[in-house]
Amino acid sequence: MSKYFYITTPIYYPSAKPHMGHAYSSIVADFFARFKVIDGYDVHFLTGTDEHGLKIQRSAEKADKDPQQFCDEISKTFKNLSNTLNLSNTDFIRTTEERHKKTVQYLWDQLEKNDDIYLSKYSGWYSVSDEAFYNDDEIEEVDGKKFSISSKSPVEWIEEESYFFRLSKWEKPLLEFYKSNPNFILPESRRNEVISFVQNGLKDLSISRKTFSWGIPVPNNNKHIIYVWLDALTNYLSALNYPDLNDNLYKKFWPASIHLIGKDILRFHAIYWPAFLLAAKIDLPKRVYGHGWILSGEEKMSKSKGNILDPIEIINEYGLDPLRYYLIKEVSFGNDGNISQERLEDCINSDLANNYGNLCQRVTAFAHKNCDGVIPRDINFQKEDLFILNKYKDNLDKIRKNIDEQNINFYIDYIVNSLFEVNKYFNDQEPWKKKDDVIRLNTIIYTSLEIIRKISYLLYPIIPNSSLKALKIFNLSDKDIKLDSIKNNEFLSKGGKIEKINILFKKIEKNND
Ligand code: MSP
Repeated sequence: MSKYFYITTPIYYPSAKPHMGHAYSSIVADFFARFKVIDGYDVHFLTGTDEHGLKIQRSAEKADKDPQQFCDEISKTFKNLSNTLNLSNTDFIRTTEERHKKTVQYLWDQLEKNDDIYLSKYSGWYSVSDEAFYNDDEIEEVDGKKFSISSKSPVEWIEEESYFFRLSKWEKPLLEFYKSNPNFILPESRRNEVISFVQNGLKDLSISRKTFSWGIPVPNNNKHIIYVWLDALTNYLSALNYPDLNDNLYKKFWPASIHLIGKDILRFHAIYWPAFLLAAKIDLPKRVYGHGWILSGEEKMSKSKGNILDPIEIINEYGLDPLRYYLIKEVSFGNDGNISQERLEDCINSDLANNYGNLCQRVTAFAHKNCDGVIPRDINFQKEDLFILNKYKDNLDKIRKNIDEQNINFYIDYIVNSLFEVNKYFNDQEPWKKKDDVIRLNTIIYTSLEIIRKISYLLYPIIPNSSLKALKIFNLSDKDIKLDSIKNNEFLSKGGKIEKINILFKKIEKNND
C-alpha cells in the first residue's frame, strides 16, 4: 500500500523580498519532505505566496504599482528562492490564481449553507501588518499609539459592516478535538497556549472587509472582500483541487500530514483553520507544528524591524548546504534561535569539512591506494565492525519515530554522533598498519565506505547536494537513496568501482585578529 505525506509551508506575503525567517520555514519543510521521499512515501510539498489583503494593497500603493503587477514581481523572488534553496516542492501556489479563488468561494458557500456565517458590524482593533483582529486586552499603548502586545505591530480601529464566522460555536468542539488528538498541535508549549486561549472564550470572527478591494469577493455580495486569512488558509485545499473529491491529489493527500508554520501564526492555523474545516465538514489536518523564530539580536527578524538577514547573501558567501545544515542544526527546533556568522563558520569547519568531507576524502583516497579503487570483496567482519554497521538498522525505526514527532534535534544529534563514531573507528582500527593482513585491511575499508553511504543517506534531507556528491563515490544517485536499504541491512556491492571525489566543503580561514 502506498504511503502519502503532504507537507506545507506558510504561504509568504510578497510584501517585500524574502528573508532568513522565510528561508528557515522552507528549508525545514524541505528536510521533512526529502526524508519522507527517501523513506518511500509519495510526497506532496506545497509552498507559495499569500497575495491578497490590505497589507499587500498598501505595499503596492507605496511602490506605486498595480497590486497584481506588484505581486507578480515579488512572488517571482519567492519562487526563485525556492530554487536557490533547492526545495523539492511539488507545487507553488499563488492566491491570485483562479484555481485558488474558486476553492475559496466554494468554501465560503459551504460555511454559509451550514449557517456559520452572518452579516453584522465589526468594531475593534486591526493590525494590517499581521492582518489580524485583536481584543482590547491584547493591545498596549506606547507614546500615545496602540500596538499588539504579542507582535508589537501597530493597530488601527475599524468599524464597518462585516460578515462574521460563528467561531464561538466551535469552542467546545475544538477543545474536544485537541483533547482527543493530543499531537495535533506541537510542540507541547504551543498546544498549551492554544488551549488556554480557546478556554478563555472565542468570539465570532469578522471574515470580510468592505473598505478595500484587493482580494476575493464574497459570493453574491461583491462589496465585501473575504478576510485574507480565510482566503490564505484555504490554499492548502485549493492546491489539491478541492472541492473535486475525486481528484487524485485530494484523495491522496488530504488531510495534510503537517502544516509547518512559525509560532507567530499559530492562532490562525490551530484555531481558525480547524474551526472553518469543522464547519465545512472537511477532515482536519493531522498536525500543526509552530516552530520558533530566527532572531537577529534579541528580536524576531522582520521587515518592519529593519533587521533582516538576506539568505542569498549568506548562500553566495558560504554556499547553500552549509546554510541548510547550520539552520537545521543550530536552531534547536521548536525554539527561537540566533544566527551568528561565527557559529556558521564553526559548523562548516568542524562538522562539514572535518567530520564529513574529510572522512569521505580520506577513506576514498585510502581505498584507491590500497584496493585499486574497488569495493573490497574479501572481507570478514569482526565484532567492532558489526557493532558500528548494525546500529543504523537497529536505530532506523527510532529515527523514523522521532521524525514523525518533528524531533529534528534527535536526528541531527544522531548524525553528529555517527560522524564522530566512524572517524574514531577509522582512526582506532589503524588500517594503514594492517597492510600485511589484507582481509582486515579490506574489512575496515569496506566498513568505513558502507558507513559513509549510510550517513550520506541520512544527510541527504539536510544537505542534498553534498550528500549526492559524496554518493558519487559509489555511483549512486538520488533515486538510489532508500532508507529501507538501511532497514534491510543491505550493504554495498562488492567489486564496485570507487570514484574519487572533489573536496565537499572548503574550510573557512578564520581571522583571529
Ligand atoms: N501570509 C502569512 C501566512 C499565511 S499561511 C496560510 C504570513 N506570511 S509571512 O510572510 O509574514 O510569514 C510567514 C512565515 O515565515 C512565518 O510564519 C514563519 O514561518 C516564517 N517567518 C517569518 N519571519 C520569521 C522569523 N524571523 N523566524 C522564523 N520564521 C519566521 O504570515
